[in-house]
Amino acid sequence: MNIVAIDGPAASGKGTLARKVADKIGFAYLDTGALYRFVAHTVMQRFGDPSDKNDAIEAAEFCRDFFDPSLLDNPDLRLDEAGQAASKVAVVPKVRTALLDLQRNFAVNPGAGFKGAILDGRDIGTVICPDAPVKLFVTASDEVRAERRTKELQSKGISVTKAAVLKDMRERDARDAARDTAPMKPADDAITIDSSDLTPAEMLDKALDIIKERLSL
Ligand code: DC
Repeated sequence: MNIVAIDGPAASGKGTLARKVADKIGFAYLDTGALYRFVAHTVMQRFGDPSDKNDAIEAAEFCRDFFDPSLLDNPDLRLDEAGQAASKVAVVPKVRTALLDLQRNFAVNPGAGFKGAILDGRDIGTVICPDAPVKLFVTASDEVRAERRTKELQSKGISVTKAAVLKDMRERDARDAARDTAPMKPADDAITIDSSDLTPAEMLDKALDIIKERLSL
């Protein structure tokens, strides 16, 4: 079972790392945060209010039934509004259940030509793939994460201040970590990588060293 689970808080650099690792070792990559963002976006477009439990469940079941990976490429999903709303729908247990099989199927059947699967999110190592042979928890200081997210949004022409980004990020992390179902936390057997003082290249090397030690590629 060639599965790499990467969890961590918002803007920790886990997505960029996961993509690069997947590229290097020939694994398929699933950004599970994008699934929750897709559900949140769908609630706002078609069903109503992301804070309403029933609207969120209806949207999640709709997204599951009509899922196509290309739907995750919608640039609107990358906006902070979608991230906040995703964190709200993600609290609802039935929303998480609706997305469970999709994630687990991807992990065990990454598709022809791939040697394995890498998934990033909040509960991959704890709930989605508890038997994954490699589990990483990527984190960074609040300041560094807010700085990164601010630059990322500004580079897309979105006008934000670092203070506002920091406030939103802390609110989202608190909600993700405090929920009853599948809260964000490192699995007991996860290795934590603090990316605050690492360059992207150093992060990649560190992750590849761990992966190569645990998987025979
Ligand atoms: O990784 P991201 O910032 O794109 O995720 C958006 C939100 O989705 C995040 O705040 C919480 C939720 N999420 C989750 O609950 N479980 C996951 N495996 C991935 C994301």
